[in-house]
Amino acid sequence: MRGNLSVQGWLAGRTLRTRLIAGVFVLLAGSCAGIGITTSITLQRFLLERLDQQLVGAGSRLDVSLEHTNGRGGPGGPTPDGGEPGVQGQVVGTLATRIVRGSLVAPVVVNDTAGQVSLGNVAMSSADRQKLLHLVPDGRPTTTRLSSIGEYRLRATRSQDGDIHITGLPLRDIESTLHRLEATELFVFAAALLLTGLAGAGWVRLALRPLHRVTTTANQVSSMTLGSGAVDLPHRVPDTDPRTEVGQLSAAFNQMLGHVETSLEQREASEARLRRFVADASHELRTPLAGIRSYAELARRSTEAIPDEVSHALGRVESEAVRMGRLVDDLLLLARLDAGRPLEQEDVDLSRLVIEVTSDARVAGPDHRWSLDLPDEPLVVRGDEHRLHEVVANLLSNARTHTPAGTSVVVRLRANQQSDHQVHQVLLSVTDDGPGIPAELRASVFERFVRADDSRSRAIGSTGLGLSIAHAVVTSHGGSLTLVSAKGGTGFLIALPAGNGT
Ligand SMILES: Nc1ncnc2c1ncn2[C@@H]1O[C@H](COP(=O)(O)OP(=O)(O)OP(=O)(O)O)[C@@H](O)[C@H]1O
Ligand SMILES: [Mg+2]
Repeated sequence: MRGNLSVQGWLAGRTLRTRLIAGVFVLLAGSCAGIGITTSITLQRFLLERLDQQLVGAGSRLDVSLEHTNGRGGPGGPTPDGGEPGVQGQVVGTLATRIVRGSLVAPVVVNDTAGQVSLGNVAMSSADRQKLLHLVPDGRPTTTRLSSIGEYRLRATRSQDGDIHITGLPLRDIESTLHRLEATELFVFAAALLLTGLAGAGWVRLALRPLHRVTTTANQVSSMTLGSGAVDLPHRVPDTDPRTEVGQLSAAFNQMLGHVETSLEQREASEARLRRFVADASHELRTPLAGIRSYAELARRSTEAIPDEVSHALGRVESEAVRMGRLVDDLLLLARLDAGRPLEQEDVDLSRLVIEVTSDARVAGPDHRWSLDLPDEPLVVRGDEHRLHEVVANLLSNARTHTPAGTSVVVRLRANQQSDHQVHQVLLSVTDDGPGIPAELRASVFERFVRADDSRSRAIGSTGLGLSIAHAVVTSHGGSLTLVSAKGGTGFLIALPAGNGT
């Protein structure tokens, strides 16, 4: 369970390439280990079987020699051909001994001295002797470690005269063969793993290249602005071979892009229709509204005596018609800004504009404390003076109408300079120490028809369009309007790109 978790932990966050290479590597390493172990075991069995056969042959031949030796009471003397009987052709290291009436006769080992094989006594520890004495004389070979001469394959048989004959062959040749095989396998497998790792990395990189193209296209699409305006998604993944997985993915991805494009086109078309409708409706409403206003005014100013209530009602019709006219103008302006209608492009002296709007606000709100903070040099931006005037007037009107008398309002103009002392941005802030914008309104304050639902807002006949118009105008100037601080008051910051004259 823990191993499973740690493998998952390792895989988490790894690239597909690393996972594939690691997977192939682990599989190959497992196969190599399997092949290595199987080969070693099979070879070991085969060699042991062959050794056991040799052991049977060696036993019968050495018996002759030992009989001869015992007959003389010492190691065998030379044969006519210069060797010893039963010793010629024996493997060097072959062990032979007998147990006669329960005691071990001195064990002998075949030696090779200058190409001449002979039998020699071998000194054995009492533990080794005990091991030999306890061998079962059933003729079956067993593997035993003898401290004096190493690991041996031993076989004990009982002869007709009741003695036990023990023959042994050393296992060192088998061990060294197996060690050599293991070393060779280790080297070959390591080389195979290294080559597979390198070639596999290259191959997987090649195989995953089409996937990289899908990622590139996805990144290109995600860096596009899809939120508004006409949408064109020119990017498509090139490989769409349906026989490959990546091709199928690419085709599905392209299909999805096509679907997104169609949906966005439909959305854009319906938004354009809506904008046109609002613009047309607002435009069409202007004329009858102007008519209502003029006729109400005409009737109110009539020389005929009209009752007071009628005169009051006509006055209300007139003022409501004015309000509605303003609302219609605002809607028309928003529809035009949404449609991306180009604005006037002229040098606007923002310092002068701010002075003018603030002095208008002073007149309109004598109960507020107005202060201006301007830099020495006039700051100029490129844009539509009339619209920018509206924006600043709107912010000051908010600071006046949504705060109680006695509130201080500070209008500050600053230049944002780069390291080369070139002004690249003009910052205009309007802050007041009034009650602040209600917390639930702050996130949506630039949306249309959003206003605090309090009696004050209703009393001043606010529509909730002022800030959304200001935001749209500033944005279409390439600038930004943000609510900067609403702690114990309200602060709006306008950032506009500086004009040529600055
Ligand atoms: N300086 C301010 N202090 C407190 N609340 C403000 C301030 N400025 C704006 N608000 C809140 O934000 C709301 C939205 O302002 P916005 O200018 O968009 O609309 P409005 O002033 O209500 O109506 P309109 O400007 O269209 O006549 C206001 O209704 C008011 O609740
Ligand atoms: Mg307002």
